[in-house]
Amino acid sequence: MKIFIDTGNLEEIKKAANLGVLDGVTTNPSLIAREKGADFHTRLREICRIVKGPVSAEVVSTDMAGMLQEAEPLVKIAENITIKLPTIPEGVKACRQLAARGVKVNMTLCFQPLQALIVAKAGATYVSPFLGRLDDIGQDGMELIRQIRTIYNNYGFKTQILAASIRSPLHLVAAAMIGADVATVPFEVIEKMLKHPLTDSGLKKFLEDWAKIPAEKK
Ligand code: G3P
Repeated sequence: MKIFIDTGNLEEIKKAANLGVLDGVTTNPSLIAREKGADFHTRLREICRIVKGPVSAEVVSTDMAGMLQEAEPLVKIAENITIKLPTIPEGVKACRQLAARGVKVNMTLCFQPLQALIVAKAGATYVSPFLGRLDDIGQDGMELIRQIRTIYNNYGFKTQILAASIRSPLHLVAAAMIGADVATVPFEVIEKMLKHPLTDSGLKKFLEDWAKIPAEKK
């Protein structure tokens, strides 16, 4: 499973990249808005300097022509830019056009399996089902991942399932068990991935016991 970080924050990206296991980055307009004062294109350029894997940059137009126009300067920022488009009819049309030119596309705000089927047919590189937001309204976000996995397997679609709106390590475990290709994860969840109290107490005990061995015996 590939792990992307879901943030526009450079410090978080640097810390996650330093672990050596970060595969990419996703941003969205809300995440960029949190970065007070950051110029969107400059921020993307900075992110692409840190991370060589895919970096999703989202458009805000709601018509195909506007989306394609916004995508132009974005794809020129770096070769690892992936264009993120909303899963609406205009987004599907723009996806088709960009995919035909070899531009990588991430179709976002996917909430039902048929949206995932359509974007795969339109040549999307990634589909982003939003698990947490379905859970928020009392629906089973993980069931959506399961449905998309089955549909894509049935027909051999190459579009990668990018599990998004992940809120906890449990979301990540379930998405990995189902076989999501990628998960985009907030920094707090990346930190929690390596945490276990038994690891900490076990290490403490090992070090204490090691200290009891006389120096000449080590
Ligand atoms: O990548 C999409 C993701 O950022 C949405 O997460 O927590 O705002 O639902 P959330």
